Amino acid sequence: VTGALAQIATLLREESGVLIGEHQHAALSTAIVRTGLASNAAEFAQIARDPAQRRQALAALIDEVTVKETSFMRDRRQLAAIPWQALHESAQAAGDGIVRVWSAACATGEEVYTLAILACESFGTNDPPVHIVGTDISGLALARANEGAYRERAVRELDAPLRDRYFTHDDATWTVNEIPRRFVEFAFHNLYRDPIPPLGSRRLDLIVCRNVLIYFDGETIERVVEQLERALRAGGTLVLGAADALSGSARRLAASTRTAPARERREPRTLRRPLGRVPQRRREDHIATALQAADHGRAEEALAQADAILAKDPLDAEAHYIRGLVELERGDARAAVASLRRALYVDPSFALAAFKLGRANEAAGDKTAALRAYEQALRTIDPDDERHELLLEQVDLGDIAAACSARVEALRK
Ligand SMILES: C[S@@+](CC[C@H](N)C(=O)[O-])C[C@H]1O[C@@H](n2cnc3c(N)ncnc32)[C@H](O)[C@@H]1O
Repeated sequence: VTGALAQIATLLREESGVLIGEHQHAALSTAIVRTGLASNAAEFAQIARDPAQRRQALAALIDEVTVKETSFMRDRRQLAAIPWQALHESAQAAGDGIVRVWSAACATGEEVYTLAILACESFGTNDPPVHIVGTDISGLALARANEGAYRERAVRELDAPLRDRYFTHDDATWTVNEIPRRFVEFAFHNLYRDPIPPLGSRRLDLIVCRNVLIYFDGETIERVVEQLERALRAGGTLVLGAADALSGSARRLAASTRTAPARERREPRTLRRPLGRVPQRRREDHIATALQAADHGRAEEALAQADAILAKDPLDAEAHYIRGLVELERGDARAAVASLRRALYVDPSFALAAFKLGRANEAAGDKTAALRAYEQALRTIDPDDERHELLLEQVDLGDIAAACSARVEALRK
C-alpha cells in the first residue's frame, strides 16, 4: 500500500505540481476512497495506469486533495492596494481600455467576485471597464464558482452594504447577483502544466495568484512566477500571496505586489513605513531603503545599507537578515546561510530569518539543515512579537507557517 500511495503522490505531483509528503499518505488514502473510483490505493494505481482512465481518475483525485480554503476579501489590505485607476490608464495606453484580470487558482470563486466588487466600487459603476477570468485545476471548485452561492460564513468579511448591493439573500445562502457576473468568467487552467498566460488569452493588466504556489517546490515556484511576470502587459500588476512570495526568491520576499515596466514607470507602492521612534529613525531608514533596493534588484545598494547599520552595530539581526536575502537572490547560497545564521545567533526567535535560512540551506543542497531551520521557524512564529514590524508589516504569520509546513512536509518525504 505504501508503494502504491507513493506512486500516486508522484502522479499527482507530475500532474498538478502539488507536493504530497509521506505523513499525508493517510489523508491521501481517504481522498482516494472519496473519489468513489477505487476502494484502496493499489486499485486506484491500477486505474491510473490505464491511459483511457488515467486523466479522469487524476482529475477526480485532484478535486479531493487540493486545499480550496478561501474567502471574500481574503487579505483585505493587499486587495485594497490594487491600483484600479492606474491599471485603467495603462489599459487605455495599450489600446482597448479594458483592464484584463486573471485570478489564477481561484478555488470556489470568492477571490474573483471580490475583485469584481472592488472594481465596481473603485470605478463607481456597475459596468466597470474590467474583465476578470478565474481559473483553477479543480473542476468541482469551478462548478461552485460558477454557481456563486455561498454560506453566511464565506461572506462575513464583506460589509453589509456590499452584500446588499451584489448578492441576493435566501435563508443562509448568499448568491452573487448579475452585476459582478456580467464581467466575470471561469475556466479550467493548470498552473503547473498549461501555458501562462492561458492559451488564447491576451496579456494581463492584473494577475492575482495567491495561496497556491506554497504547495509547489521551489523550482516550480520560480518558473511560474517568472511566467506570470512575463504575462503582464506594460504597467500591469502581479499580486502574490504573502506565503507564496516568501516561498520564492529574496527579491520577491520584499514585495508580494510587483509592477511590470510601463512607459512611465510607476514604482510599486511601498507598503512599509519607518517606525516612528526618533532615536531609531536613521537605522529604520537604512532598513527601509535596503529593503526597497533589494525589492528592485539593486543588490549593491541593499548590501551597502545593511553594512552601514552593521558598522554601527554588528549585532543587528535585521541587517544580517537583509544581507542574507540579497545573497540568496544573487545565487550565493553559502553566504546567505552564513548571514542568516548570524541573524539567528543574535535573535534565535527571528522566525522570518529561520524561514529564509531554510530556503538558503535548500539552495545550498543541505536538506537536513533546511528542515531544522523550517522547524525552528515554526517553533518561533509568534503573532504577538512586534520586534520585526518593518519586515513583517505586509506578511501574514499564518502564511509563513503554512509555507514552512509545506517545506517540512516536502523535505521529510
Ligand atoms: C487555497 S486555494 C487559494 C484560493 C484563492 N486564490 C485564495 O487565495 O483565497 C488553492 C487553489 O489552488 C488550486 N490549485 C492547486 N494546484 C493547482 C494547479 N496546478 N493549477 C491551478 N490551480 C491549482 C486548488 O484547486 C485550490 O483551489
